Amino acid sequence: MKNTLTEELLISLSADKPSISPKFFYDDVGSHLFDVITLLKEYYPTRTEKWIMDSYPHEIADAVGHCDVLLDLGAGNCAKASRLFNTLKPKQYRALDISKEYLEAAVVDLQMQFPQIQMSAHAIDISQPLVFPDIQELHKVFFYPGSSIGNFDPEKVDQFLTNLALECHGNGGLLIGVDLVKDVQTLNLAYNDPLGVTAAFNLNALLNVNRLIGSNFELQNWEHFAFFNTSLSRIEMHLRAKANVQVTLPSLSGKEHLVSFSTGDLIHTENSYKYTQDNFVEKLRRAGFDDIRCWTDPNQYFLVCFANAQKNPS
Ligand SMILES: C[S@@+](CC[C@H](N)C(=O)[O-])C[C@H]1O[C@@H](n2cnc3c(N)ncnc32)[C@H](O)[C@@H]1O
Repeated sequence: MKNTLTEELLISLSADKPSISPKFFYDDVGSHLFDVITLLKEYYPTRTEKWIMDSYPHEIADAVGHCDVLLDLGAGNCAKASRLFNTLKPKQYRALDISKEYLEAAVVDLQMQFPQIQMSAHAIDISQPLVFPDIQELHKVFFYPGSSIGNFDPEKVDQFLTNLALECHGNGGLLIGVDLVKDVQTLNLAYNDPLGVTAAFNLNALLNVNRLIGSNFELQNWEHFAFFNTSLSRIEMHLRAKANVQVTLPSLSGKEHLVSFSTGDLIHTENSYKYTQDNFVEKLRRAGFDDIRCWTDPNQYFLVCFANAQKNPS
């Protein structure tokens, strides 16, 4: 995986509009910083999703039904999946995440708490097509919480959901958490917390990139910049240059080259799309899911859906 990621980074950082995919937030430090973000008062998604799941455990379990394998996409610390074990009773739990060390430590801990469930940790990039030939016959439940689906651009989200529907092979479904459109102030605050944890999380991507490709970004030259783009219905996170800077990047041919940034230049690090319930449910239908059940919170800040894969996808 390392070479593919290196190549992807070199291309995206050398583009006219430089970017770093949000998956590069998550090295060991980034995963811990994300856990701190989830504790912040301003960051409503995690506690609201938890409220929904804790408020409707039996309704969710009824909708999901039988579960041979629970596949946790972007599992992080695995805490959300572990809260489902008592109601969904999966025989197998597969945790997938790009943040290898963090994931493996979380699965080791969880296996001790739930010895009856067969568990495995898979350090893979879930933005690449996913295939699970060994469990084709089993009833699979994909679990994709945390509104991570919002990181995909609109055309990619459709491909991703269609791939999951097909991978169910008519035998399973998707339990997913989706962030909903809401007032701009609440959205902006969630990504601009006064303690600066989200800023540190964003800046840490540069340290991860330095480690992965041997570049020399210096943190003091960059600042966090995040805002809600109303016309595109997405939070955008960027790193903004605080000075004129030159960064040395290795090139694909092995030779180093310099990339220049002027004060105010941006590196785009994340989009987080916000949906309405209707337009997300429509996306699930178009991707090959049906029997879609939804739950939300009293403020309608967040949405949890379970969608069954169609038995005979067209
Ligand atoms: C927003 S956090 C959510 C964590 C946890 N599922 C939750 O809901 O609290 C996103 C998680 O997905 C992982 N992740 C992000 N992009 C990924 C990718 N392309 N492939 C695999 N894992 C990824 C991150 O390491 C992180 O653990």
